[in-house]
Amino acid sequence: MNLPFAESYKIKVVENLRKSTRREREQWIKEARYNLFNLKSEQVFIDLLTDSGTGAMSDQQWSAMMMGDESYAGASSYYKLKNAISDLLGFPYFLPTHQGRAAENVLFSVLVGDGDMVPGNSHFDTTKGHIEFRKARAVDCTISEAFDTQVDHPFKGNIDIEKLEEVFREHPASRIPFVVVTLTCNSSGGQPVSMRNLKDVHALARKYGVRVLFDSARFAENAYFIKMREEGYGDKTIREIVAEMFQYADMMTMSSKKDAIVNIGGFIGLKEEELFNKASTYNIMFEGFITYGGMSGRDMNALAQGLYEGTTFDYLDTRIRQVAYLGSRLEEFGIPVQKPFGGHAIFVDANKFLPNLPREQFRAQTLAVELYLEAGVRAVEIGTLLADRDPETRENRYPELELLRLTIPRRVYTNNHMELVAAALKNVYNRRDSITRGLKIVNEAPIMRHFTVELEKVESV
Ligand code: F0G
Repeated sequence: MNLPFAESYKIKVVENLRKSTRREREQWIKEARYNLFNLKSEQVFIDLLTDSGTGAMSDQQWSAMMMGDESYAGASSYYKLKNAISDLLGFPYFLPTHQGRAAENVLFSVLVGDGDMVPGNSHFDTTKGHIEFRKARAVDCTISEAFDTQVDHPFKGNIDIEKLEEVFREHPASRIPFVVVTLTCNSSGGQPVSMRNLKDVHALARKYGVRVLFDSARFAENAYFIKMREEGYGDKTIREIVAEMFQYADMMTMSSKKDAIVNIGGFIGLKEEELFNKASTYNIMFEGFITYGGMSGRDMNALAQGLYEGTTFDYLDTRIRQVAYLGSRLEEFGIPVQKPFGGHAIFVDANKFLPNLPREQFRAQTLAVELYLEAGVRAVEIGTLLADRDPETRENRYPELELLRLTIPRRVYTNNHMELVAAALKNVYNRRDSITRGLKIVNEAPIMRHFTVELEKVESV
């Protein structure tokens, strides 16, 4: 008999969860203005809002925290992290920041200006926010296969080289501060980018004299997919693949809250000394002195250890198989999900799930509310609310994909939790024809509105 797959860790500390009744949840979601970000965590049974900062640290990370050096300047924790980044990722210069968007803020303060164009693969919302805030434009050059959830393609995060070259041809290099490659591509469904594509993007960018930035939050999951799906990489270790990937980047921004399995933290990796010097000034202004940049010594220690743990095959195999486990269950129930399954989440196609609900009534958000009411499961909308309004016309932007993201925290839930999530969504799917009233906006912020938006149910006609 073949041995079944089992997790590559065991559990030492647990956190109790509280179940609620549907009646309680109806009250809570109304009080939260139908925005799941406004729920208290105790009102949630299984929290799939994000995989960001929600992972479980290992005993080795916790023990590394005890060894944190809290010196303001030159702490050993800083050097530990610096060595890990140079050892694993190959960046000689780095700046710590308090999280990923802070890394964007610091680096973009140096590089992005009014009227610039920043091509990339479905920029994450904070990345796009930091670009548009500086009156520059994010140009999406993702391959078209990414926008059909049912098309099977091993690397749906890839950049369309022709689309990218068009941007390069139409604008002078001085107006393109960099091309950003998001690994894995969160906004298009946690989809990986192939090594071939990284190579091609780098070569093209070199030809036009443009820098390459990797938005690296889930770089290790990306490396896992390269190992499993790309020819020539099956026998390489995750760390060998990671090292090769970063050869094709000039700079990286990192949200350490994902693949480095810590609760807070980020950094910038750089290869040019001059850029490092310029970015250091902004780091000191916005984050803190360059040897801590908004992080405590203990957090830098946990991060250094997390980078090593996050780049082991056994850990990644456990992680990504769990995500696929949930995806397979949903597929068995006939629920439309993004294929192939992503690295950190399963993305439910809300356009296919609720095709009769007018898209103006926010299909994916409506689905998120229904799933919460069903079982206290909190997922997140990756659709029209997240896409914000067009900065010029102020009209709603309707992205090609309207998704509900079921994001799996690292090393936190068991497959029984995944079973419950799948069953809850199946129940909603079975009654989907009765979901005829969506949501409308009562209040919204001008940018990144999904965090704070207030909604109400559309009245029945
Ligand atoms: N880039 C990507 C690809 C991300 O997914 C995120 C965050 C960031 C940058 C920003 O990093 O949160 O540390 O400031 N994504 C989280 C998510 C919030 O839920 O997907 P941060």
